[in-house]
Amino acid sequence: MAYFDWNSNLSVGVDLFDAHHKKLIDLINELHEAMASGKGIEKVKTTVTELARYTKYHFAEEERRMQQENYPALDAHIKEHRAFVTQVEDFIAKLEAGSVTISMGVMSFLRNWLTSHIQKTDKQYSAVLADKKVA
Ligand SMILES: [Fe+2]
Repeated sequence: MAYFDWNSNLSVGVDLFDAHHKKLIDLINELHEAMASGKGIEKVKTTVTELARYTKYHFAEEERRMQQENYPALDAHIKEHRAFVTQVEDFIAKLEAGSVTISMGVMSFLRNWLTSHIQKTDKQYSAVLADKKVA
Protein backbone atom coordinates (compact mmCIF):
# COMPACT_ATOMS: atom_id res chain seq x y z
CA MET A 1 0.00 0.00 0.00
CA ALA A 2 1.27 3.39 -0.94
CA TYR A 3 2.00 6.01 1.67
CA PHE A 4 -0.43 8.42 0.02
CA ASP A 5 -3.31 7.42 -2.29
CA TRP A 6 -5.36 9.70 -4.51
CA ASN A 7 -9.10 9.14 -4.17
CA SER A 8 -12.19 10.80 -5.59
CA ASN A 9 -12.57 13.01 -2.49
CA LEU A 10 -9.54 14.82 -3.84
CA SER A 11 -11.04 15.50 -7.26
CA VAL A 12 -11.24 19.20 -8.17
CA GLY A 13 -13.42 18.58 -11.22
CA VAL A 14 -10.69 19.57 -13.69
CA ASP A 15 -9.11 16.50 -15.30
CA LEU A 16 -5.77 18.20 -15.95
CA PHE A 17 -5.36 19.32 -12.33
CA ASP A 18 -6.48 15.95 -10.97
CA ALA A 19 -3.71 14.46 -13.14
CA HIS A 20 -1.21 17.00 -11.76
CA HIS A 21 -2.26 16.19 -8.19
CA LYS A 22 -1.83 12.45 -8.87
CA LYS A 23 1.69 13.13 -10.17
CA LEU A 24 2.49 15.14 -7.00
CA ILE A 25 1.19 12.24 -4.90
CA ASP A 26 3.39 9.83 -6.92
CA LEU A 27 6.42 12.00 -6.16
CA ILE A 28 5.56 12.14 -2.44
CA ASN A 29 5.28 8.32 -2.49
CA GLU A 30 8.63 8.09 -4.29
CA LEU A 31 10.18 10.29 -1.61
CA HIS A 32 8.66 8.16 1.13
CA GLU A 33 10.02 5.04 -0.57
CA ALA A 34 13.48 6.61 -0.86
CA MET A 35 13.39 7.44 2.85
CA ALA A 36 11.91 4.13 4.04
CA SER A 37 14.17 1.91 1.96
CA GLY A 38 17.31 3.77 3.00
CA LYS A 39 18.26 4.40 -0.64
CA GLY A 40 20.51 7.17 0.51
CA ILE A 41 20.50 10.92 0.70
CA GLU A 42 21.23 11.44 -3.02
CA LYS A 43 17.97 9.75 -4.05
CA VAL A 44 16.12 11.78 -1.40
CA LYS A 45 17.67 15.00 -2.75
CA THR A 46 16.86 14.27 -6.41
CA THR A 47 13.29 13.26 -5.56
CA VAL A 48 12.52 16.26 -3.37
CA THR A 49 14.09 18.54 -6.00
CA GLU A 50 11.83 17.02 -8.67
CA LEU A 51 8.87 17.44 -6.30
CA ALA A 52 9.71 21.16 -5.94
CA ARG A 53 10.12 21.57 -9.70
CA TYR A 54 6.85 19.86 -10.56
CA THR A 55 5.01 21.68 -7.77
CA LYS A 56 6.09 25.05 -9.22
CA TYR A 57 5.00 23.99 -12.71
CA HIS A 58 1.62 22.83 -11.38
CA PHE A 59 1.02 25.97 -9.29
CA ALA A 60 1.88 28.18 -12.30
CA GLU A 61 -0.65 26.29 -14.45
CA GLU A 62 -3.39 26.60 -11.80
CA GLU A 63 -2.64 30.30 -11.39
CA ARG A 64 -2.72 30.86 -15.16
CA ARG A 65 -6.14 29.18 -15.44
CA MET A 66 -7.56 31.10 -12.47
CA GLN A 67 -6.26 34.33 -13.96
CA GLN A 68 -7.91 33.54 -17.32
CA GLU A 69 -11.26 33.20 -15.54
CA ASN A 70 -10.76 36.26 -13.32
CA TYR A 71 -11.02 33.98 -10.32
CA PRO A 72 -11.89 36.20 -7.32
CA ALA A 73 -9.83 34.42 -4.63
CA LEU A 74 -6.68 34.31 -6.78
CA ASP A 75 -4.44 36.40 -4.49
CA ALA A 76 -5.10 34.31 -1.38
CA HIS A 77 -4.59 31.15 -3.41
CA ILE A 78 -1.26 32.39 -4.78
CA LYS A 79 -0.12 33.24 -1.23
CA GLU A 80 -0.72 29.64 -0.12
CA HIS A 81 1.27 28.37 -3.11
CA ARG A 82 4.18 30.75 -2.41
CA ALA A 83 4.31 29.83 1.28
CA PHE A 84 4.51 26.12 0.44
CA VAL A 85 7.23 26.61 -2.19
CA THR A 86 9.25 28.67 0.32
CA GLN A 87 8.97 25.91 2.93
CA VAL A 88 10.01 23.20 0.48
CA GLU A 89 12.91 25.27 -0.88
CA ASP A 90 14.10 26.08 2.66
CA PHE A 91 14.03 22.37 3.41
CA ILE A 92 16.05 21.56 0.26
CA ALA A 93 18.65 24.21 1.19
CA LYS A 94 19.02 22.67 4.67
CA LEU A 95 19.18 19.20 3.15
CA GLU A 96 21.98 20.34 0.83
CA ALA A 97 23.77 21.92 3.78
CA GLY A 98 23.47 18.67 5.71
CA SER A 99 21.70 20.33 8.64
CA VAL A 100 18.46 18.34 8.32
CA THR A 101 17.40 14.97 7.01
CA ILE A 102 14.18 13.54 5.64
CA SER A 103 11.82 12.22 8.33
CA MET A 104 8.28 11.02 8.85
CA GLY A 105 7.56 14.52 10.14
CA VAL A 106 8.52 15.96 6.75
CA MET A 107 6.50 13.29 4.94
CA SER A 108 3.41 14.04 7.06
CA PHE A 109 3.83 17.75 6.43
CA LEU A 110 3.86 17.18 2.64
CA ARG A 111 0.89 14.80 2.67
CA ASN A 112 -1.18 16.93 5.06
CA TRP A 113 -0.42 20.18 3.27
CA LEU A 114 -1.38 18.80 -0.15
CA THR A 115 -4.54 17.09 1.15
CA SER A 116 -5.70 20.17 2.99
CA HIS A 117 -4.81 22.56 0.14
CA ILE A 118 -6.70 20.47 -2.43
CA GLN A 119 -9.76 20.03 -0.20
CA LYS A 120 -10.01 23.52 1.23
CA THR A 121 -8.46 25.80 -1.38
CA ASP A 122 -8.30 24.10 -4.80
CA LYS A 123 -11.88 22.85 -4.56
CA GLN A 124 -13.05 26.45 -4.32
CA TYR A 125 -12.09 26.91 -7.99
CA SER A 126 -14.12 23.89 -9.10
CA ALA A 127 -17.26 25.90 -9.72
CA VAL A 128 -15.35 28.32 -11.93
CA LEU A 129 -12.94 26.01 -13.75
CA ALA A 130 -14.66 22.62 -13.84
CA ASP A 131 -15.90 21.21 -17.14
CA LYS A 132 -14.16 23.84 -19.19
CA LYS A 133 -11.57 23.10 -21.79
CA VAL A 134 -8.13 23.70 -20.36
CA ALA A 135 -5.98 25.33 -23.01
FE1 LIG B 1 -3.64 25.22 -5.62
